[in-house]
Parts: sequence; C-alpha cells; structure tokens
Amino acid sequence: MKVQLEALRKSAAEKIAAAKSRADLEALRIAYLGKKGELTAILKQMGKLSAEERPVMGQLANEARAFIEEAITASDNELKEKEKAARLKAETLDVTMPGKQIELGHKHPLSIVLDEVKDIFIGMGFSIASGPEIELDYYNFEALNIPEGHPARDTQDTFYITDKVLLRTQTSPVQIRYMEHNKPPIRIISPGRVYRSDAADATHSPLFHQIEGLVVDKGVTMGDLKACLETLAKALFGESTKIRLRPHHFPFTEPSCEVDVSCFRCGGKGCPMCKGEGWIEILGAGMVHPQVLRNGGIDPEEYSGFAFGVGLERIALFRFHIDDIRLFYENDMRFLSQF
Ligand code: PHE
Repeated sequence: MKVQLEALRKSAAEKIAAAKSRADLEALRIAYLGKKGELTAILKQMGKLSAEERPVMGQLANEARAFIEEAITASDNELKEKEKAARLKAETLDVTMPGKQIELGHKHPLSIVLDEVKDIFIGMGFSIASGPEIELDYYNFEALNIPEGHPARDTQDTFYITDKVLLRTQTSPVQIRYMEHNKPPIRIISPGRVYRSDAADATHSPLFHQIEGLVVDKGVTMGDLKACLETLAKALFGESTKIRLRPHHFPFTEPSCEVDVSCFRCGGKGCPMCKGEGWIEILGAGMVHPQVLRNGGIDPEEYSGFAFGVGLERIALFRFHIDDIRLFYENDMRFLSQF
C-alpha cells in the first residue's frame, strides 16, 4: 500500500505539471481525489491491514491527499495568472494607432463662387433678397414690359404650371417684388435658380442660376452701373480686368447693355478661351425702364436705377476653367473633390 501511495503521488505530480488548462486540473482532481478516485480505491484496502499498520497508512494517505490538493491549487493559480496575461495581451489597445478618418465635405463650386459674389456686393452695401422659383406670368414677363406675344418670350420659353403660373426664366421678377414692398434707396442682389425649356448640352441647362442686381435711388446713372460692375469684375477675375459695355436690348432696361470682361487667360490678345475675341460676355444690364419703376410703385420722375443679371454657372466655368456646365449638376465625386 505504501508503494501504491508513492506511485500515486508521483503520477499525480507529473500529470498536474503537464495540465494545460484549469478544466484539465479539475478532471485530475476528480480522478485522484473523487469518490470513485484512485486514492479512495487505495483507502478501501485499509481493512486488510493490521491494527498497528492502519494509523501509519492513514497518516501516509492523508499526506498524499494534502500533497495532491496543494499541487492542484498551486498549478491552478499559475494557470489563472497565465490566462489573465493572455487575455490582457489579446485586448491590448494601441492608443497611438491612427483613428478612422471622417470624410469632410466642402462647398460645391457654384456655392464657392456665389459666396464670393455675395461678399463682394455686401462689401458695397448691398443686401440679399429672394423671390419664388414658381412665379406668376405677371412678375416674370408682364411687369417687365414683356406682354403676351412679345418676341422676347420666345428666347425664354419655360415650364408652365398653368397659363399664368410658370417656373421663372430669370431673377428679374424679384426687381418688381422687391420694389412693391421697399422704398428707395434700394441696393440688393438676388441669387437663385431659374428655368428654361432648353435641352442640356455643354453650355445649356434647363435649370441654372442667376444673380440679379437692383439699385434705385435719386440720381443713379449709367456711370454708377459701370463702376459697380467694374468692381465686381476686378474682384472676381483680378485687378487688371477691364470691362466693356456693348449696346443691347432688354425690354425692362433702357438703355440696355451686355457686359464683357477682358479675357483673364490671354489678357485681351485673343485665345481659345475667349474664342479669339479678347473679351468674354458675363452679364446683361441697363438702366431700369421707367415703366418698370412705375410697375414697382416707384416714381421715375423722382428716382432712377440700374439693374443687372449675372449667370452664376458662366462665371464658375471661367473661374475654374471648366468646359461643360453639366458637370455642376452630376454630383460626380471625381469632379467635386477638385474644389
Ligand atoms: N434677366 C436678363 C436675362 O436673363 C438679364 C438682365 C437682368 C438684363 C437685369 C438687364 C437687367 O437675360
């Protein structure tokens, strides 16, 4: 029996040392010390021993039990530590690792140019006005001296909601709407969407943007108009930019003109950008027609004014050297991310 106990201690010590997990240890504890375990099996032979031998063997058996229990506890503690260390290693957080990049958007090229134009005019004391995109025939045409049947309607065909309600073809109706509710001095710009029933191509879009300008006060002259537009042109395209006023016709201004800026690529010598002209047309303008002032409730004997209308896309095309207006509306990130 003594030999058996020795062998038991030895084999238990080896197996405990080789255990790889706490579950293994628990299995060993049951195998050696459990009710049906090996130690119990040995103790069952006690009955065969003499009265003198019994307490000696009992002592040895207790020592073997204590030895195995201790070995298991020690090994269990060791494995616990190892498991903890492994878990900590697996869960390590590297705080120096770069974070996830959040992609920031930015302004659309049209908004970039629009904000610039707004800044330029706010700097000259203008305020910003707005009007509806779904407009009455009266404001879009009638009140601007374009009665039914007038040839100017042909060049501004639009989308009709009813006979009298349409998508505005220009921002000029804001002139009338603003004059109806405000007394001179008036100094506003009014940016916004306008619509024409044009097929989309590199230079046309059924939806585009204009910026209307209106100044009404006592003694306003064409000289004021020219100075104002010169300031705009220089601020947008550079100090050396010149402007040129060409006689034109708009039913709601008299006299009327189209305004060109000297080509900012060739400086006026002529290049592909200005198609050899040296000049690039950017807007229409003129002195507000007396009847238009009257339609807005303002006495043309007392007041005079000028107005202009700029195409926002046109300016953005030139500013960013873009050759197709459709790029502005396609939301292609390859295009938009360049600004
Ligand atoms: N509304 C005109 C157009 O769309 C431009 C313009 C505005 C001309 C104001 C003169 C005065 O063509």
